[in-house]
Amino acid sequence: MMNTSIAIYPGSFDPVTNGHLDLIERAQKIFGHLVVAVLRNVDKQPLFNVTERVEMLREVTKSWPGVEVDVFEGLLVDYARRRQAGVILRGIRAISDYEYELQMAMMNRKLEPRLETVFMLPGETYSYLSARLVREIAMLGGPLTGLVPPQVEARLRAKTA
Ligand code: PNS
Repeated sequence: MMNTSIAIYPGSFDPVTNGHLDLIERAQKIFGHLVVAVLRNVDKQPLFNVTERVEMLREVTKSWPGVEVDVFEGLLVDYARRRQAGVILRGIRAISDYEYELQMAMMNRKLEPRLETVFMLPGETYSYLSARLVREIAMLGGPLTGLVPPQVEARLRAKTA
């Protein structure tokens, strides 16, 4: 029922960065099927709506046949059960990510003990990169080269022009 060759990579992806992509590239070599799952979060005020975030993710992951992009709402463990996934994938950049990730992973384990959280490390070039900083740099007109894929940079420029 829970299949460990199916992994869910959940997140906000507002927008997808080269750090996310680095992790997706590494993970699609390990898991037969990788579902990049965009959270439809009613509380947050996102820069890109869910449709835009999904479009960008699909564009930049289209060369990997094992990668699917989907939207979820509600509890992640419920979504994972529906998708029959046995693994939740999260990226850890630095020690500062660890506390929040540990708390989420442990809570998810409490909610669904059959689900394993797997942490992967992005390339060191991306260890300081975050979607929040990307949004801020874009808003302030700074350079985004190397931080996001070209398609995402174009959309950020259009959004913040
Ligand atoms: O990219 P983010 O914002 O760090 O991702 C956070 C995310 C989407 C993984 C987390 O907020 C989540 O799983 N939300 C779904 C609701 C849920 O299951 N909450 C309990 C988590 S212990």
